[in-house]
Amino acid sequence: MQNTIEKAEGKLGILTPGLGAVATTLIAGVAAVKKDLAQPVGSLTQMGNIRLGKRTENRNPKIKDFVPLADLNDIVFGGWDVYCDNVFEAAMKAKVLEPMLLHAVKAELEAIKPMKAVFDKSYISNLDGDHIKQAATKVDLAREVMDDIQNFKEANDCSRIVIVWCGSTEKYIETSEVHETIALFEEGLQQNDPAIAPSMIYAYAAIKLGIPFMNGAPNLTCDIPALIQLAKETNTPIGGKDFKTGQTLMKTILAPGLQARALGIKGWFSTNILGNRDGYVLDHPDNFKTKEVSKLSVLEDILQPETNPELYGDLYHKVRINYYPPHGDNKESWDNIDIFGWLGYSMQIKINFLCRDSILAAPIVLDLALFSDLAKRAGMSGIQEWLSFYFKSPQTLPGLRPEHDIFKQLLKMQNTLRHLMGEDLITHLGLDYDEDLVEAL
Ligand SMILES: NC(=O)c1ccc[n+]([C@@H]2O[C@H](COP(=O)([O-])OP(=O)(O)OC[C@H]3O[C@@H](n4cnc5c(N)ncnc54)[C@H](O)[C@@H]3O)[C@@H](O)[C@H]2O)c1
Repeated sequence: MQNTIEKAEGKLGILTPGLGAVATTLIAGVAAVKKDLAQPVGSLTQMGNIRLGKRTENRNPKIKDFVPLADLNDIVFGGWDVYCDNVFEAAMKAKVLEPMLLHAVKAELEAIKPMKAVFDKSYISNLDGDHIKQAATKVDLAREVMDDIQNFKEANDCSRIVIVWCGSTEKYIETSEVHETIALFEEGLQQNDPAIAPSMIYAYAAIKLGIPFMNGAPNLTCDIPALIQLAKETNTPIGGKDFKTGQTLMKTILAPGLQARALGIKGWFSTNILGNRDGYVLDHPDNFKTKEVSKLSVLEDILQPETNPELYGDLYHKVRINYYPPHGDNKESWDNIDIFGWLGYSMQIKINFLCRDSILAAPIVLDLALFSDLAKRAGMSGIQEWLSFYFKSPQTLPGLRPEHDIFKQLLKMQNTLRHLMGEDLITHLGLDYDEDLVEAL
């Protein structure tokens, strides 16, 4: 298989609809790493290792030395936003990174100015930017996005482009008829169907051009039959939804561990306070609903109460998000977990995570961009389930249960990389070590 992966030659353009806290923290971070001012901590593509072969072989290369990924020096960033601030101004306003660090990469950041956004206030009522495309129909908007992508590619001399949605969370909608087939969707674009969200227009434009599209928010976006079908037709890798950071990251680390030891869980209450623009958008009930659905599915899928009703049948799961401006991007979260053990005796776990949302999200965007570019060069198209590791609400083929357990997700991702490079898959069975030892005696 490795012979069939195209080399990562030339420049890779990473475009993000949304140049807010997460995207600017990524862009500034990559610029800082390139200047040796900081380390890309949290990024598996940059700092992670992968074991190959048997434990006795001691082969444990860096992932970036094992699979052909784009080099950070070959990346060019761009994007769209409803506000016209350049990336330096937007990063200063987001207040995630210190001004001193941002000033050290100011020239690079100032040079990145957002393209005009496809925006519809009915999907995000708490935003009021005016850096917005005006067109008669949604087809025209999709064409303008395609033109933006092609122009960016030419102007920056890129050989490849990937897109990662870093825009705000749109209001909650469910799949409807217009999302069912490519034909209905394209007709809906012409008719300005209100069920076609702005994020779907970006996704459509990208997928139509065969450009990988990853969705970092919980909106449906490319998780509709029409765009899944289009992705197969145009050989495009797609994935989503909702970056797995903060509280849900903790949940998918802890819940599989409790379940692994057959400990029961009666209740899991999660609440948090955050004060960035994301928190402000999520303060609106329609937008919170989209996030809530994404966050709630996690425990049920890990614990599967129907297969073990004695331990998880009565689980009460509650998720709250509270907009609290003084905390800015430094989210604080509390979890109270009521568990029970031997003979039903109860215990409690309390977690108080003082996290930095965008610091956890930025490396995810980088990895998704680099891995989706790899997938494209390896000829993998459609939903990239092996990237579930990065998502709160992983997109799966219709009818399949998503895998939320972070350790199973990691194994799947590592085995996909081994498979791509023609290495043996690792099952951790380990019986062959016994055979080797017997042979050696
Ligand atoms: N930070 C995290 O840990 C985290 C985790 C999971 C998911 N997310 C999601 O990632 C997204 C970005 O988060 P953030 O903290 O950077 O938010 P943010 O509010 O700082 O940035 C989002 C940006 O998107 C822009 N935008 C909104 N609609 C747009 C459109 N149609 N086209 C172009 N731009 C648009 C907004 O103007 C804003 O600048 C949000 O949807 C958030 O829910 C973030």
